[in-house]
Amino acid sequence: MVETKTFESTSPATGEVLGTLTEADEGAVDRAVETAAAAFEEWRLVPAPRRGEILFRFAHVLEREKDALTDLMTREMGKVKAEAGGDVQEAIDMSYYMAGEGRRLWGQTTPSELQNKFNMSVRAPVGVVGAITPWNFPIAIPSWKLAPALVCGNTVVLKPAEDTPLLAQRFVELLTEAGLPEGVVQIVHGYGQTTGAALVRDRRVPVITFTGSRETGIAVTKSAADNLKHVHLELGGKNAIIVMDDADLDLAVEGIVWSAFGTSGQRCTAASRVIAHADVYDALAKRLVERAESMRLGPGWEDDTDIGPVINKAAIEKIHSYTQIGTGEGAKLLTGGEIASDGDLAKGFYYRPTVFADVEAGMRIAQEEIFGPTTALIRVGDFDEAIRVANGIKYGLSSSIFTRDVNRAFRAMRDLQAGITYINAGTTGAEVHLPFGGTKDTGNGHREAGQAALDVFTEWKSIYVDYSGKLQRAQIDNQEPGA
Ligand code: UN1
Repeated sequence: MVETKTFESTSPATGEVLGTLTEADEGAVDRAVETAAAAFEEWRLVPAPRRGEILFRFAHVLEREKDALTDLMTREMGKVKAEAGGDVQEAIDMSYYMAGEGRRLWGQTTPSELQNKFNMSVRAPVGVVGAITPWNFPIAIPSWKLAPALVCGNTVVLKPAEDTPLLAQRFVELLTEAGLPEGVVQIVHGYGQTTGAALVRDRRVPVITFTGSRETGIAVTKSAADNLKHVHLELGGKNAIIVMDDADLDLAVEGIVWSAFGTSGQRCTAASRVIAHADVYDALAKRLVERAESMRLGPGWEDDTDIGPVINKAAIEKIHSYTQIGTGEGAKLLTGGEIASDGDLAKGFYYRPTVFADVEAGMRIAQEEIFGPTTALIRVGDFDEAIRVANGIKYGLSSSIFTRDVNRAFRAMRDLQAGITYINAGTTGAEVHLPFGGTKDTGNGHREAGQAALDVFTEWKSIYVDYSGKLQRAQIDNQEPGA
């Protein structure tokens, strides 16, 4: 008898067991890929507008299920209700957007250098897409990957994070309800090192799209290299908000609190650094501390909760270790820096919003991704120094500046080395129809969302149609004799 391994989905808010899943071993991954590969042969021939209509219906189904998914997300992932609703909304938006792509998926038609010849380029699906998704946007990120992959005519094997399997399971069930033919999307549950690795290794999966840590991204790339797979990576961030001396401070504080502590800091776009001009530094620090200390920790499903739990034990230990690292490096802990365990909070993984001051740009807490509600205040003397510090990290996902000076705003738009720049807003809040992703170690040059996503999930094919009835040689027969 084959032994099947199982694992549990538990609530980070209470430790309650929400469900038990079967871990997909190598054999199960093999079967899932086989099914998706077989389904590809038919799915690729379904007209793209028809594929888009299924996504349109999926968006409708998600709208109907928005409250239920939101509630489940507060329980399985932990984020607060408003943010969980936003996560589902992002999937609805992405599904509508990509549904429309079914009637576009534009290529180009071009003149030919020869007479009686027609040239065009079209997008072709690649095949079976391996999608490995994180727990922090458990509905939105699967939609970022699956909606474009499907409308382009690919089939998908989805390996969702082991922390949020139930949400992923619902996502796939709802796709089926929306009319997706059997086999087109397969889901395999389990851990990255086993289930995920088996998917990345499988030769019949030509595209891997992965969102997660930089280290895992490198491992995925190395493993995929043996088969020259296309790899799309969305990795970490160490995003900064610059606050200049002419900023609207009230607005800046709002933006920082939302970007640093929203989703308990567990966004790749979270503002884990605040680079403040010396003239506003003290006032900003004071207000941030006041705001952080007034935030209520609790389960995401309670209406008055500001900050939910972090995802699991390993996460809270990592976050706390960075508090110790920061203190050890000589940064000043202004507030937070502890695991909250009063009353019912002891049942979950709650970390107090944490603000460090006197942070030097090179300190580890200013360089490494913490993925928790911790932000580091760095003092600078002028605009140029602010940009230098903002860029002085290995990541390049999101960036922001608060200023009322239009010249500085435009210089920041040009000079911040990041895939995303916000002016007078925090570092989070990407919309689905613009490219999402980052420079430097945040990725490998690809983007998801918007039109850019289509490049991840298609191959260009150039087509030349010669209707001259004779052999016309490009680069040769179009040259005037003697020219
Ligand atoms: C992520 O953290 O992986 O802009 C995605 C934002 C969200 C998406 C974040 N719309 O913060």
